[in-house]
Amino acid sequence: MTQQTSPNAVWQAVNVSRQDREKMNGHRGIILWFTGLSGSGKSTLIHELEKIFFAANRHTYALDGDNVRHGLCGDLGFSNEDRVENIRRIGEVAKLMLDAGLIVLCGFISPFGADRQRVRGLVGADDFVEVYCRCSLEVCEDRDVKGLYRKARAGVIPEFTGITSPYEVPESPELILDTGTESIDACVQQVLALLANRL
Ligand code: ADX
Repeated sequence: MTQQTSPNAVWQAVNVSRQDREKMNGHRGIILWFTGLSGSGKSTLIHELEKIFFAANRHTYALDGDNVRHGLCGDLGFSNEDRVENIRRIGEVAKLMLDAGLIVLCGFISPFGADRQRVRGLVGADDFVEVYCRCSLEVCEDRDVKGLYRKARAGVIPEFTGITSPYEVPESPELILDTGTESIDACVQQVLALLANRL
């Protein structure tokens, strides 16, 4: 993993604090971390939630696995090592966005429990809500929205999560959504209910 602090970097004080920004926004910032297999509904949910928050004048940003891999993490592949670095970078970005007072909607497979825990530790448990999008491999594979499972089965894509690369089920997420069996709206409502007293 990349080292945490560059040599001779000296932290600079800022004039506008997270609290100042949250006060101006009228709500607190928080990280909502959606984890689950590819095709389990993470992206759908974070973008749906962002639409709802935006309409309610909440300040948000959605960080989506596929999108981040077009830029910030475009140099990373899907080896275990690269996935660790992917989540490390995203954790740091989410932390900056939290400091900017935003509701940060993260949708990443984030297959390793230790990486998710590291992000939780980085920002603090009060600011981190882990949402497990529980959906069987069968359903994800049946959906195969991007056609990637078919390619993984055919051996064209190596190290594919759920097929040839592991997914560690969260041990104690704040919320479990049965995205394989429940509707998008039902899942959205469960997230909003959980957040009702936290924003
Ligand atoms: S993570 O494992 O590092 O957290 P991330 O969420 O960024 O993954 O990216 C997952 C997305 O990349 C999937 O939804 C899928 O579209 C695409 N993808 C391409 N190759 C793979 C692979 N080998 N395993 C899983 N997802 C892959």
